[in-house]
Amino acid sequence: MRAAGPGARQALSLVLLLLWGPGAATSDSAPPLFNVSLDVAPELRWLPVLQRYDLDFLRSTMEHVLRDLVPVWVHSVIRKAAGELEHLLPEPFTREIRGMCDFLSLSLADCLLVNLAYESMAFCTSIVAQDSRGRIYHGRNLDYPYGNFLRNLTVDVLFLKNEQIAFAGTTFIGYVGLWTGQSPHKFTISGDERDKGWWWENMIAALFQRHSPVSWLVRNTLSESESFEAAVYKLAKTPLIADVYFIVGGVFPREGVVITRNRGGPADIWPLDPLNGAWFRVETNYDHWKPAPEKDDRRTPAIKALNATGQANLSLEALYRVLSVVPVYNRNTIYTTVMSAANPEKYTTRIRNLG
Ligand SMILES: *[C@@H]1O[C@H](CO)[C@@H](O)[C@H](O)[C@H]1NC(C)=O
Ligand SMILES: *[C@@H]1O[C@H](CO)[C@@H](O)[C@H](O)[C@H]1NC(C)=O
Ligand SMILES: *[C@@H]1O[C@H](CO)[C@@H](O)[C@H](O)[C@H]1NC(C)=O
Ligand SMILES: *[C@@H]1O[C@H](CO)[C@@H](O)[C@H](O)[C@H]1NC(C)=O
Repeated sequence: MRAAGPGARQALSLVLLLLWGPGAATSDSAPPLFNVSLDVAPELRWLPVLQRYDLDFLRSTMEHVLRDLVPVWVHSVIRKAAGELEHLLPEPFTREIRGMCDFLSLSLADCLLVNLAYESMAFCTSIVAQDSRGRIYHGRNLDYPYGNFLRNLTVDVLFLKNEQIAFAGTTFIGYVGLWTGQSPHKFTISGDERDKGWWWENMIAALFQRHSPVSWLVRNTLSESESFEAAVYKLAKTPLIADVYFIVGGVFPREGVVITRNRGGPADIWPLDPLNGAWFRVETNYDHWKPAPEKDDRRTPAIKALNATGQANLSLEALYRVLSVVPVYNRNTIYTTVMSAANPEKYTTRIRNLG
């Protein structure tokens, strides 16, 4: 993603189109790519991105999320508490949200709620793997059941510090956290939801105890951690408002791990173990030490596809094909990202639409 000019991007798309064949090319599209400068005040830094969208469309989407995903009582609690939360929640997130809200003429409470509503990102698949030459690859599908509108909001973002790319990620317009991202030449992260029965009560209580929203921790880690190990430590330890799985890939052999998180801390750490044949780890939305439920087993098909690929033939293109096997790829899949921190310019997201 370093070669971010439109020309370079078109060239990359063309290469991918040729590599991935016509099937992938016709239904999948690259999301828009934006620069967001962290040197600009948090309130202002997203406005150039918003300006590229129809503001009425953004407002109506946010209203739709609030109406369909947020219980009425939560809405009234957050309306009352918004002032207090604004001081409690970490920067730069609240200031970024406030800036976008003011621009869209929405209340801070509404925009905070939209950001929290996406915290339950439902069903996803993440894979971290090492090829036979020791190179690390990381891929993810983000699946969201009621998410048709999210396809139009999906964007790749380059976060700049001093006009250099500090880190990159994939998100939705209006959403300041990241579920997928890359710190170039250091590590990559994806998050998969863990707790299906997701409780607003628990989440709000944890917010007031200053626990972090999951996607804000991902962004902070991308922004601050200096290495794979430091990232794993931060992602494992920082108190969160919800359970989650973090999948992390590095740049050196064996740097790949699935962290199973409780809100308070790590429940399990599951690293790659290539010397003993474990050259990949697949995480969907279930604890890896338990069988995947028959009704929603995306794990076994992903493992079969990786076995069929073989460690010697692993590449970002091969990983994308694994993530395109039904039901790993399904009607709810909003986007697929494949990445490898050692080659940051290869970061690739495609919007998916199985229909
Ligand atoms: C969303 O994207 C689809 C194409 O992917 C387009 O047909 C539709 O008009 C878009 N909707 C909005 C509201 O922008
Ligand atoms: C985004 O930032 C990068 C790095 O500074 C720069 O090379 C690129 O031209 C910028 N792209 C746009 C569209 O401004
Ligand atoms: C994948 O390959 C491993 C090693 O050969 C084997 O133990 C496992 O059963 C295979 N899994 C599937 C789902 O094919
Ligand atoms: C994997 O690669 C080897 C040689 O690099 C090739 O012979 C084999 O056919 C490939 N397997 C698949 C499934 O593509």
